[in-house]
Amino acid sequence: QVTRLWGGRFAGGPSEALARLSLSTHFDWRLAHHDIAGSRAHARVLHAAGLLTGDELDAMLAGLDRLAADVASGAFTPVLADEDVHTALERGFIERVGADLGGRLRAGRSRNDQIATLVRMYLREQARGIAAALLDLAAVLADQAEANIGVAMPGRTHLQHAQPVLLAHHLLAHAWPLIRDVERLRDWDARAAVSPYGSGALAGSSLGLDPEAVAAELGFPAAAENSIDGTAARDVVAEFAFVAAMIGVDLSRPAEEIILWATKEFSFVTLDDAFSTGSSIMPQKKNPDIAELARGKSGRLIGDLAGLLTTLKGLPLAYNRDLQEDKEPVFDAVDTLDLLLPAFTGMVATLTFNGERMAELAPQGFSLATDIAEWLVRDRVPFREAHEIAGACVRVCEERGTDLPDLTDADFAAISPHLGPGVREVLTVAGSLDSRSAKGGTAPARVTEQLGRLRAAIDGH
Ligand code: ARG
Repeated sequence: QVTRLWGGRFAGGPSEALARLSLSTHFDWRLAHHDIAGSRAHARVLHAAGLLTGDELDAMLAGLDRLAADVASGAFTPVLADEDVHTALERGFIERVGADLGGRLRAGRSRNDQIATLVRMYLREQARGIAAALLDLAAVLADQAEANIGVAMPGRTHLQHAQPVLLAHHLLAHAWPLIRDVERLRDWDARAAVSPYGSGALAGSSLGLDPEAVAAELGFPAAAENSIDGTAARDVVAEFAFVAAMIGVDLSRPAEEIILWATKEFSFVTLDDAFSTGSSIMPQKKNPDIAELARGKSGRLIGDLAGLLTTLKGLPLAYNRDLQEDKEPVFDAVDTLDLLLPAFTGMVATLTFNGERMAELAPQGFSLATDIAEWLVRDRVPFREAHEIAGACVRVCEERGTDLPDLTDADFAAISPHLGPGVREVLTVAGSLDSRSAKGGTAPARVTEQLGRLRAAIDGH
């Protein structure tokens, strides 16, 4: 049983320690079907170049079909002596079609151009699934925004009460980054859609093989312009890892807020039983584990990116075995998002918001002070002065332990001759919200329009 793809110039086999270090089938086996697809395309260009007869091509394609079926059923799996996915599949192929025909398939290609192509095929496929899962989450955020369209909450900067906003506006602020992540994946795909197959080991395809034909069969609009770049570049893999890390970060921000909102102190939100966990000792506990895992796994996704970039830094051209280390980080990123996104979406879909509590807190912490200043500006008071006057209102309230709407007409008059009882019209949450009516603002009418545009963006992808 020949399992190595090399050996002619070696007197003996590899040491066991080397074989163990070198082995990659425990992670690259997930590329088996892409490898077989590549082999089908390669067989066709061998035939087109006159290196296989029609009968040989047919026998090869039939053998590859049998191999694919056995891989799918689990009847064929790698053995320890198979160095990598390519080695295992060549062994399986030869077992099925014999050494003479089986030994012809490898002509004019290298594992270096194969693996560079397979990783792109795999990631392009996964990117589509991740994008769909991101759109599901964005849709669920839109649903929650719509269901809670009338709810006001304290908008924060520096985690301090800043200005009232609609809960819907806040939720949609978490949805737009997800739409951009979907766009990032799509933009990335345009760069990933170039096939390195035919780059050979590094110098290009020999034997009259046509890389563009292989590319087209494997779903790539083009073949690599440069065979060295084709086999040595992994920027496309790193960029995928970046987008995955960005998605992790984009999830970690709502995650952190859900964790805070579910505390007794906030009491903004209740998690559904099916999407929260208990404690082994404290019977009363209901924990936001999904949100915490999202926050934690964002670190893992960033680590995948950092590890990969560190592997690539300073690598000379062309292929180096270091590049075998490109796969586990992105496979981990794919698996992590695969687990995380459905759970996160389920958690968001089943959140119950405590609208009364949010609305009660919305005007607290002097969050309407800006509205006083802007009311004065509409009355031709310079903003610099208006800011001082509104600040003085806050100071008076703070000294008395009261809030802005508690100020009397006499208080207003004492603070500034510019202030009259008319200012009360903006000292309500509803008045404050309505006033932020420019595009992108939190006025209910604008948020409803925004919701429509978000839904259109979701449907458009
Ligand atoms: N398993 C390798 C990888 O993942 C591909 C094989 C290239 N090996 C070689 N000796 N040139 O990158």
